[in-house]
Amino acid sequence: MARVLLVIAGGIAAYKVLDLVRRLRERGHETPAILTEAGARFVTPLSVGALSNAPVLTDLFDLDREREIGHIRLARTADLVLVAPASADILARMAAGRADELATAALLATGAPVLVAPAMNPFMWAHPATARNVARLEEDGVAFVGPEAGEMAERNEAGVGRLASSEAILAAIEALLAPARPLAGRHVIVTSGPTHEPIDPVRYIANRSSGRQGHAIAGALAAAGARVTLVTGPVTIAPPKGVDVRKVETAREMLAAVEAALPADAAVMAAAVADFRVEAAAQKMKKADGPPTLTLTENPDILATVCRATNRPRLVVGFAAETQNVVAYARDKLVRKGCDWIVANDVSEGVFGTDQNAVHLVTARGVEAWPRLSKAEVAARLVERIAATLGSD
Ligand code: C5P
Repeated sequence: MARVLLVIAGGIAAYKVLDLVRRLRERGHETPAILTEAGARFVTPLSVGALSNAPVLTDLFDLDREREIGHIRLARTADLVLVAPASADILARMAAGRADELATAALLATGAPVLVAPAMNPFMWAHPATARNVARLEEDGVAFVGPEAGEMAERNEAGVGRLASSEAILAAIEALLAPARPLAGRHVIVTSGPTHEPIDPVRYIANRSSGRQGHAIAGALAAAGARVTLVTGPVTIAPPKGVDVRKVETAREMLAAVEAALPADAAVMAAAVADFRVEAAAQKMKKADGPPTLTLTENPDILATVCRATNRPRLVVGFAAETQNVVAYARDKLVRKGCDWIVANDVSEGVFGTDQNAVHLVTARGVEAWPRLSKAEVAARLVERIAATLGSD
């Protein structure tokens, strides 16, 4: 059975965690706990300890006890860390990587999966700052359960902000402890980010791309058990855990890395590859020489090349970023490039560098309009579909 380290933050919902502790114990899990200072105002270490029969640490800890138990050791030996209830404050502190009290220090030290069950006032949950922190944490691989909609503790307030039910939290814990790995044994190649096509040693041509969507897909594929080769152009975000990263600069390097990574069961080409390159000058061009004439040469189309390869992956997914006629162009691209699906998005309104995406999935069977989702959710949905398709071999 597993060791679930509970981090109990402040909030009226903290009392509900006592029920959760009891149920986790019934399932045979160990439940050591850390109470934040605010959390300790809502439940006592004594009540948690009585139910868990395991160490309970607070920031008002006794130094000897701390030396004996060690929050770092607790963090390092946990199979999963559950933050419940997670206040807006602890989400902000986690997103910022703070470590100035026991709870956040343990969260920073753990290598175990982290599950967060937020509970707060609906206005706090809806605040862009909280949304930003949640998106950042999702990017870091933190899983969320809830919050749910309903009545709040405050009178006359309803909305999204209630702690998820014990059942929902337990289900999320079990899923993380024994994750479904529908893509185990599969190899998937993902391209992500832009390519840079040098003009001279300091200048380049590129498309706008943060790599967030491609990286999120690579992470979700790895979480589903796939062996993932992530071929990425220059990006500033960190690669997801558990993927094999190949860093490239140019389209031609990206193509070579993709071809070297074949064979694969699937390929997801999310990179914004520059369509043209320049014969790069060996030395920096001088402004004083006047505006240069750039002769552009067409780059290889990586997606189309992979689709025509003799060892073509069974499923090839392309992306299309358009500012108009999104679906019509995507349908055309599907046929022209010979891929199986196109994930099409309208980039006429802020998508680049944001955490949200509204896409259409275009396949030979038809078009699905997905709601506006976080890039992590788009990735999760797409990976579900990939797993369902590859699973039906
Ligand atoms: O033709 P367009 O660039 O809009 O096609 C987008 C799709 O094709 C994306 O999946 C992108 O990764 C892929 N692509 C590619 N190689 C290129 C151009 C685009 O793989 N040279």
